[in-house]
Amino acid sequence: MLIIRTVEEMIAFRNQKLNGETIGFVPTMGALHKGHISLVERSVKENTYTIVSIFVNPKQFNDKSDFENYPITLENDLEMLEKAKCNLVFLPSNTDIYLNYDGFKMDFDGLDKIYEGEFRPGHFQGVVDIVYRLFSITEPHNSYFGAKDFQQMAVIKLMVKTAKLPITVIPCEIIREESGLAMSSRNERLSFEERKAAATIYKVLKSTVDQVSTSQNPNQLSALIAAEIDKNDFLKVEYVVFCEPESLKTVYIFESNTAVRLCVAVWCGKVRLIDNISLQF
Ligand code: PAJ
Repeated sequence: MLIIRTVEEMIAFRNQKLNGETIGFVPTMGALHKGHISLVERSVKENTYTIVSIFVNPKQFNDKSDFENYPITLENDLEMLEKAKCNLVFLPSNTDIYLNYDGFKMDFDGLDKIYEGEFRPGHFQGVVDIVYRLFSITEPHNSYFGAKDFQQMAVIKLMVKTAKLPITVIPCEIIREESGLAMSSRNERLSFEERKAAATIYKVLKSTVDQVSTSQNPNQLSALIAAEIDKNDFLKVEYVVFCEPESLKTVYIFESNTAVRLCVAVWCGKVRLIDNISLQF
């Protein structure tokens, strides 16, 4: 497994033009877990060459202490990537990656102001800035994103469309712990009790999916879900929303033969967790 630390070397490597080979790319912020590795394994299966980047992008953190406390486990990350048969790890520095680069400006069509965007101002602009830069350095054919960050996936798809990049965005399903809790690097910051409490989030989402019907009102149901999660002393809901899976527009009535995504953000102690689940009517 090759490790490249500078933008210059990465571009030079990429310019060797791997003949007829397809490149799969998985951008990450490290502190890797099985969720990340599922993306890497899929890329390895579907491409001749897989590049993974590890870079904790300061621009996308609206909360300074979240950035400062973001876990860094590079040695373990490299071990996991080696095992997953990743070919190349790109580990750029902050100064190098943002040198002479102001970011990518685009019309978000409001997508950066709702849900995650409402509670994390500037977050999606920061994500777009770094992913656009990484895409232009690594020039992949396929890129892999987890449905865990459902809105991020929609934002990246919009960016690729806006910039007319010849890159396919491949959505990958959410990998969960045995308790149902969606795997996340931030879970490492939960205490034993908090981690137990956090499993409630998925339990409530799953039981909603199992019982929901088109006769219900999405607004009222959102309030019930929030109340159910908030019953747990460790949890505090930030938002619960039913939305259309492509446009992410809020859904106000459930209609037969349509798919809907239920998305939530919940504080568990000092850690902010997100999760989502698909509903099919
Ligand atoms: P990070 O949180 O490290 O996640 C990297 C990728 O792994 C994202 O596509 C994310 O959705 C996916 N992922 C995380 N947890 C997952 C899980 N439990 N199941 C499946 N996929 C999961 O997302 C980012 O980094 C950054 O915003 C980034 C895109 C790298 C830009 O900085």
